[in-house]
Amino acid sequence: MRHLITLADLSPGELERILSIAEDLKNKFEAGLRETILPGRVMAMLFEKQSLRTRVSFAAGMAHLGGSAMYLGDEAGFFGRRETMADFGRVLGELVDVVVVRAKKHQTVVDLAEHCTCSVVNGLTDEAHPCQAIADLFTLRELFGKLAGHTLAWIGDGNNVAKSLARGCGKVGMRMVMATPEGYRFDKAFLARLKKEVPNLDLTVTDNPVEAVREAVAVYTDVWASMGQEAEQERRRQDLANYQVNAKLMSHAQKGTVFLHCLPARRGEEVTDDVLDGPQSVVVQQAGNRLHAQKGILAWLLGAQR
Ligand code: CP
Ligand code: NVA
Repeated sequence: MRHLITLADLSPGELERILSIAEDLKNKFEAGLRETILPGRVMAMLFEKQSLRTRVSFAAGMAHLGGSAMYLGDEAGFFGRRETMADFGRVLGELVDVVVVRAKKHQTVVDLAEHCTCSVVNGLTDEAHPCQAIADLFTLRELFGKLAGHTLAWIGDGNNVAKSLARGCGKVGMRMVMATPEGYRFDKAFLARLKKEVPNLDLTVTDNPVEAVREAVAVYTDVWASMGQEAEQERRRQDLANYQVNAKLMSHAQKGTVFLHCLPARRGEEVTDDVLDGPQSVVVQQAGNRLHAQKGILAWLLGAQR
């Protein structure tokens, strides 16, 4: 049984396969064809935090592929622990083919996967957002072709999205430069895991955003306070104030460098309107590609196009 909890679950070849399935399905979709390669397959969705992109792109993607999606709200009892994780997982696995789960704690997704007899996909935890990173690599591949050798600049908090991108960059041979202040960088335990999972990752960490964007083909940022960190909002706003992606910072990047953001954004904090809405911004294409990436993930996981 294959799960997608973090990008460490995929070999570079498997990641490449997902990206190429997604590309094929996107080309067909744009030609007006929705290939129903997963007829009768059923996906359950459990979300403990808010979502627009992840929830809708998975549900729409599954519909395009001929399967169906069901959203399990509070009344399913998962997050309220109406029954044990083991009972919930074993039973759900009998009923559906795949479960997408967004949880506050990473361990919740790990535990569900341990007991579930169907595939489990991480739809975001505090530690990882693998589906986002796959869509981002897909977008960069679309824009720049081969990814190996290019540099991605991450500006700001070393959060769940940054962690997944680090793994993703390592798998595809992209260099990652993080401009992140002390206290917001990857911790020692994560760095040790990263070294094991993606030994070839070329990661540089700096406190200078200008230095980070200079050689980058893509400049990426995310909110300074992720979901669940609302109480730290003010402190984070102060600590990360020098890490805003604005027109001045983008002026140090090369011509042709694009701006990425997983969204939702807090305009005027981590990114200014002129960058988010400006000519270098590809955030809408990036968000739209969540659909195609999810289709690649589902088709690969459910074995329709290995
Ligand atoms: N980028 C992303 O995952 O968006 P949602 O939180 O809306 O799903
Ligand atoms: N880092 C953000 C990503 C949202 C898609 C969060 O976890 O809230």
